[in-house]
Amino acid sequence: ASLFAGDINVWKNSTLNKILQRGELRVGLDPGYMPFEMKDKRGRIIGYDVDMARKMARDMGVELKLVPTSFDGIIGGLLSDKFDIIISGMTITQKRNLKVNFATPYVIIGQTILMKKEHEGKIKSYKDLDKKDFVISTRTGVTGEIVARKFFKNAKIITFETEADGISEVLNGKADAFIYDQPYNILFMSDKGKGRVVHLDKPLTFEPLGFAIRKGDPDFLNWLNNFMRQIKEDKLVDFHQKLYEKWLVD
Ligand code: ARG
Repeated sequence: ASLFAGDINVWKNSTLNKILQRGELRVGLDPGYMPFEMKDKRGRIIGYDVDMARKMARDMGVELKLVPTSFDGIIGGLLSDKFDIIISGMTITQKRNLKVNFATPYVIIGQTILMKKEHEGKIKSYKDLDKKDFVISTRTGVTGEIVARKFFKNAKIITFETEADGISEVLNGKADAFIYDQPYNILFMSDKGKGRVVHLDKPLTFEPLGFAIRKGDPDFLNWLNNFMRQIKEDKLVDFHQKLYEKWLVD
């Protein structure tokens, strides 16, 4: 008799079992969202998510393969088995959660606004920006777009294929404001945005970020949730705190 009392087919079909058999963890991500995944000067993908993915692969005893994928098609890529998991600064939304499962979140963010310098002092919140003559830019298919459409009923909304193109529109004067995840906006302010844009940094939303996997896979989800608890709460190793300080606190 086997000690395994579960459904052996569930385990055989589990993504976790397939990763172990293959000896490789394939992670889907869209580099462009600093500090979570971005390219360094040599074109290598680095960031908070990448460090977590590397630790995950190490704990599984397998190799790590990063699969760069446009955020727009990233859930489709997961569902068609182009990779095993999405680790890409993805907000857990109730709509996405109908298609994929999420592991317990690793960080909470919210949408904030970067606006033109000339609006400084005059515009105090998103409400002042929701006027017919204003243009709001964001990225296609992200929560920034969802929030822009929800909060701005009068202003014109334009969307771009990358976050960098979205904020460029404010720098070149074609848009009044850019709406996107707070960590990105904070980093933008400490670098390219300094003295050129103003950060309305009060979050407009509550957005937990989590790893996404295909549905119907309790074995993989269990492993991920326990991995997450360990890295978040293990104060002796403090992996998550170090990551937080490395990427999110300057
Ligand atoms: N948190 C936002 C969302 O889930 C933006 C994520 C964009 N991620 C990326 N790797 N470009 O919609």
